[in-house]
Amino acid sequence: MKKVQQHYDEVADIYDERYDGSRGKYYHGHISEHVMSELPKGGFLLDIGCGTGLFVQRYVAEGGRAFGLDISPGMVRHGRQRCPESGFCVGTADVLPFKDGTFDALASLLAFSYVPDPEGMLRECYRVLKPGGRIAVCTLSRTVFTSIVPIAYQVGEKVGLKKVGVGHFDEHYYTNSEIAGLFREAGFTDVSVGRCSFAHLNLADPVFNLARKVEPIVEEKLPYLAYNVCAAGKKPES
Ligand SMILES: C[S@@+](CC[C@H](N)C(=O)[O-])C[C@H]1O[C@@H](n2cnc3c(N)ncnc32)[C@H](O)[C@@H]1O
Repeated sequence: MKKVQQHYDEVADIYDERYDGSRGKYYHGHISEHVMSELPKGGFLLDIGCGTGLFVQRYVAEGGRAFGLDISPGMVRHGRQRCPESGFCVGTADVLPFKDGTFDALASLLAFSYVPDPEGMLRECYRVLKPGGRIAVCTLSRTVFTSIVPIAYQVGEKVGLKKVGVGHFDEHYYTNSEIAGLFREAGFTDVSVGRCSFAHLNLADPVFNLARKVEPIVEEKLPYLAYNVCAAGKKPES
């Protein structure tokens, strides 16, 4: 975990450049849309692995209140700058410093694969949600394509590439049924897991535009080609 924290501290000042361009904006907007559609609007949200506060900002813009938690002090500093009206703290996903039943909504985008104890994280998410509250997690899923990502990132680290996500972090990618099992084990009901994302920001422009055009078809008809998973569930009313 220390290594993940150090990495994100190192890239914190350049992280937003990744999502400032049109491809990055589209990609992050797209996964945020999936997560948003699973959550109640206008409630109190906790975003785990909140990074520089992109989703905190989005949730607040749609009428809610939000709190961000991240293991990296550097990322949290940027989150505070982006959303001065929201609360942020440094912390780990599996030990949440909040009372039982604090939040209406819980989100985590592009961070779940780093968490070494996913059962512990989901147990804590369940605890801090109010009865009836909802959770949505978007993370890279396990596919033939994503299985090479950790290898590529390890090679990148060896050749000294300083880029967001490049390193050896023991990331874990889950299949749909594995992630659904983790959610149900934690106590969540109404569990749904759907693949999303086909247009990746690392694609060059003509290919990106094509991928973007066919993304809705891929998500609906060829989901095995999509590489993120958006998993959602509900804490029962009582
Ligand atoms: C790829 S970034 C995603 C940031 C943000 N959610 C977004 O969508 O831009 C992954 C983030 O997860 C955080 N992270 C990794 N492991 C964590 C853990 N165990 N607990 C809390 N945050 C963690 C990192 O510090 C980093 O900010």
